[in-house]
Amino acid sequence: MPNSTYQYYNQLFKNLQLPLAYCDVDLLDKNCQDIAHRAEGNKTIRIASKSVRCTAILKRILESNPIYKGLMCFTGREALFLAEQGFDDLLLGYPIVNRDEIYDICTATKNGKKIILMVDSNEHLKLIDAIAKEVGVVQPLCIDADMSTDFPGLHFGVLRSPITSVDAGKRLVDYFDNYENISLTALMGYEAQVAGLGENNPTNGIKNFVIPFLKKKSIADYTKRRQEIVAYIKSKNHPLDIVHAGGTGSIESSKQEDWVTEITVGSGFYSPALFDYYNDFKHQPAAGFAVQIVRKPKPDFYTCLGGGYIASGAIGADKQPKPYLPEGIVLTANEGTGEVQTPCEYKGSEKIGLGDTVLFRHSKAGELCERFNELHLIANGQIIDKVPTYRGQGKCFL
Ligand SMILES: Cc1ncc(COP(=O)(O)O)c(C=O)c1O
Repeated sequence: MPNSTYQYYNQLFKNLQLPLAYCDVDLLDKNCQDIAHRAEGNKTIRIASKSVRCTAILKRILESNPIYKGLMCFTGREALFLAEQGFDDLLLGYPIVNRDEIYDICTATKNGKKIILMVDSNEHLKLIDAIAKEVGVVQPLCIDADMSTDFPGLHFGVLRSPITSVDAGKRLVDYFDNYENISLTALMGYEAQVAGLGENNPTNGIKNFVIPFLKKKSIADYTKRRQEIVAYIKSKNHPLDIVHAGGTGSIESSKQEDWVTEITVGSGFYSPALFDYYNDFKHQPAAGFAVQIVRKPKPDFYTCLGGGYIASGAIGADKQPKPYLPEGIVLTANEGTGEVQTPCEYKGSEKIGLGDTVLFRHSKAGELCERFNELHLIANGQIIDKVPTYRGQGKCFL
């Protein structure tokens, strides 16, 4: 693998129109193999498209190893777009309630596409069953079972599905008996508090000490819940062929569950800044963006054009892009990354000045692609291609 140092990228980018986003496919390919290796066993990996948002990269990951099978989509319109682009085996990771969107998904199902909709309430079942009946199809569905754990005074996990107990899961499974145009083919449990929470994020301070303990307790709690809901679905003879778990940060624990058939991974492929903070794995920084130094306000300070691509989620310093190269370059506390101007301080050994680049990594994976129309693909010291992001294809799903 070529050396991914500052000059490696700077000489490729400095004469191009900046800012630009890139994907170093040498590093991406390594991540694909390392993630496949982490999941090795009897599970397949579904790719979380929200953490990629570029069809060329989705294809590359799918083709990199036979363990990769299917995509987890984030909206119905996105699933339909991906189906049009030739992808199949699409699981929506989140419920949708827009009538037209569901109608179009049911129509795609009727036309032979495998698209599974996510549900967590009888209201969802009723809505989809009525539309599927109109279309004249049996629409496959997936139940989202909540995998959070409640500790005294602390909700450890996300607030998404109301299926927070085995009994709630059983009640929803029983509701399927009332409908003819839906089938229960999948169960998903996303353990966000394990998969998406690193143990060493400096902005979490002292909380980092308790995170491993909470994770361990939580894994024991939700594992049992998932197993019991699966057993109940099977006892009722539903055509369950997917039992789903995970995210980048929970591959090792999810693969211990015999009843799980597949694990979703998204962020690990680009490995953005928030994924630097896990104890048990480290992937390569495969994606980032380059901004250009356009002024020098005083010695050791370099001000760049652009850079303020803040990530979603609870507000915090860790949602800013992370300065990457040259090594040792830092943001200023006063300004952070700016809408137009980003000042950086650098006292390292690289000779940098006007026209040179500063490289950043986005805090999250897919959101980088919402800020750029294309990704420059880097391999073996060269720009080998430029591929459109979802945005570059004129798509804005969320
Ligand atoms: C339902 C669901 N599954 C899996 C994932 C895992 O994705 P990643 O590997 O990008 O953390 C996510 C991410 O938010 C998710 O919402």
